[in-house]
Amino acid sequence: MVAITGTAPESSLVSEVSIGDPALAARLVSGMEGAEQRLRGYAAGASDPRVADLVGHLIGTGGKRLRPLLALLGGEFGTPDPVVTVKAAALAEIVHVASLYHDDVMDQALTRRGVPSVNARWGNRTAVLAGNWLLAKAAWLSAELGAETVRLQARVTNRLVHGQVRELAGSYDGQDALSHYFNVVSGKSAALIAMALQTGAVHSGVPENHVQALAEYGEHLGVAFQIADDILDVTSSSSVLGKEQGKDLAIGVASLPVLIALADDRPETEELRALLGAGRAPAPDPDLPPAGAEAPPRGRPGRAAALPRTVGLLESTGVLDRARSLMDDHLSRARLSLAQLPDVPAKDALRSLCDFVARRDH
Ligand code: FPP
Ligand code: MG
Repeated sequence: MVAITGTAPESSLVSEVSIGDPALAARLVSGMEGAEQRLRGYAAGASDPRVADLVGHLIGTGGKRLRPLLALLGGEFGTPDPVVTVKAAALAEIVHVASLYHDDVMDQALTRRGVPSVNARWGNRTAVLAGNWLLAKAAWLSAELGAETVRLQARVTNRLVHGQVRELAGSYDGQDALSHYFNVVSGKSAALIAMALQTGAVHSGVPENHVQALAEYGEHLGVAFQIADDILDVTSSSSVLGKEQGKDLAIGVASLPVLIALADDRPETEELRALLGAGRAPAPDPDLPPAGAEAPPRGRPGRAAALPRTVGLLESTGVLDRARSLMDDHLSRARLSLAQLPDVPAKDALRSLCDFVARRDH
């Protein structure tokens, strides 16, 4: 087995994936380095140094770089042109970073990737503008890659926005809370993970049915990845996450553990449901503060204070195990999608990414 290392950030997933095929490992190392250089170069190349600082803030702090890795792996099912797949890899990460800039504004996040979030450091208005610059850069890259990529990028941006709007709006009256949750995460997380694989593949001559199988794999991996994120929000520490622990609970996001707990009418979850504020309307969004006023903090402050007790109950009542089991279902479905693909070494890497998500601790 060859451990993939290189100049990618320390936090990058590439160092966690082991590949049996040394030639594939070498291509991935080189592709990830190429994507990294492009990402940093795009930010540094902004014509105003203040914009360069803003848009380079999160790119410079690293991240898992899951999406670029997936774009490169998608290309491996055809005949990848390294220059083109590296561009596709950078594109997927740029869209991701743009969405994080906007997400941190919505969540009033203080930290991201172990550093102050852009909104915390420069304010909401600046963070939104910086996210827009990144989206413009992504549009530019897509145009260079061609009409099919422009369509993929437009579609994924549309799905990201729909996912976030659904999360903010909550479920419709009478709508099953879990099916609403899966609708949300399909848009806010799975769409871009699937798109990364598709973009790498369509530029490498991968046959359409295999592109579809890769997209299907990505959709399931993406849902599992978000469930792992929801679980880590309550089980991991801020220092490991690089963002605040318990943020979903504090701001009232209907994460999977919360939804499972609220739907659980066993007596042993009664205290947990009370802590989670069952039956209470969600806190209003701070979208429209009175003119001149700061937006009020999102969520219910009491929830953050009760975090240790809430986490203990989520674990002891089996709620987290049920969330883990739903995550495992999606990982099984992701692995099943791979059966439709030819046995190239990249298939093992995609399998090992499922194992990574199953044991994810950051
Ligand atoms: C993170 O979820 C959610 C996203 C990264 C998607 C955000 C999408 C938008 C804000 C829509 C606008 C999209 C673009 C492209 C500008 P989370 O809050 O559960 O995860 P976290 O714990 O990492 O913050
Ligand atoms: Mg967030």
